[in-house]
Amino acid sequence: MSRRRQLYEGKAKIIYEGPEPGTVIQYFKDDATAFNAEKRGTINGKGVINNRISEHIFTRLSHIGIPTHFIRRLNMREQLVRQVEIIPLEVVVRNVAAGSIAKRLGIEEGEMLPHTLIEYYLKADDLGDPLVSEEHIACFNWASHEEMMDISSMAIRINDFLSGLFAAVDIRLVDFKLEFGRLYDGDFSRVILADEFSPDNCRLWDMTTNEKLDKDRFRRDLGGEEEAYQEVARRLGVLQKDE
Ligand code: C5P
Repeated sequence: MSRRRQLYEGKAKIIYEGPEPGTVIQYFKDDATAFNAEKRGTINGKGVINNRISEHIFTRLSHIGIPTHFIRRLNMREQLVRQVEIIPLEVVVRNVAAGSIAKRLGIEEGEMLPHTLIEYYLKADDLGDPLVSEEHIACFNWASHEEMMDISSMAIRINDFLSGLFAAVDIRLVDFKLEFGRLYDGDFSRVILADEFSPDNCRLWDMTTNEKLDKDRFRRDLGGEEEAYQEVARRLGVLQKDE
């Protein structure tokens, strides 16, 4: 890895220069953080599992026509992806009240929301990723109106598709976070899905027992995070028998 130039190091991933122009390599770490990195730890083998789960989800999404940055998995912890300009928004889709919305609005965790909610948070670690409205996004030009139309319609299609995909393996898709990027072609750009989809950035509850199979196990000190991530991978059929 030393032969490659590191472009960026995030909390759970490192981005290296790719082999061809317009590509980068996304490396999945075992590091886990929560509460804007106030809590830190590692989940053994998480990077390997998230690489596989994200590959699986992005591949399935591309089959229903969602454009994504994913090109191919390179090895246990790395995937080749298209280089994009990340839109500075975390797009959170919620089906069931949990986490910050339950706390912020005093709703009991586990309550079904009357309809699916999309929320936008500004990607700004120093500000703790504040919740922002579409008016803020337009006012400060973080994304154009056309980009927001693409983002919201993709978020809804992704939610519909993935809710079914997880339900088929007895998992409730409670909520998740997406990130989008601009792919440039000369002066023009289009929005594609970027980052990752893994138990690090979604809530997955066993439909029968309500057991949490996601990063809340780490955030809330519930233990068993390695087993939970492995269980998700196993149910999705993405781990080989010997992994
Ligand atoms: O914390 P909150 O309830 O707002 O999180 C909503 C969803 O977004 C959860 O699935 C969480 O894992 C994800 N999320 C994330 N990265 C953040 C904040 C939230 O992946 N910085």
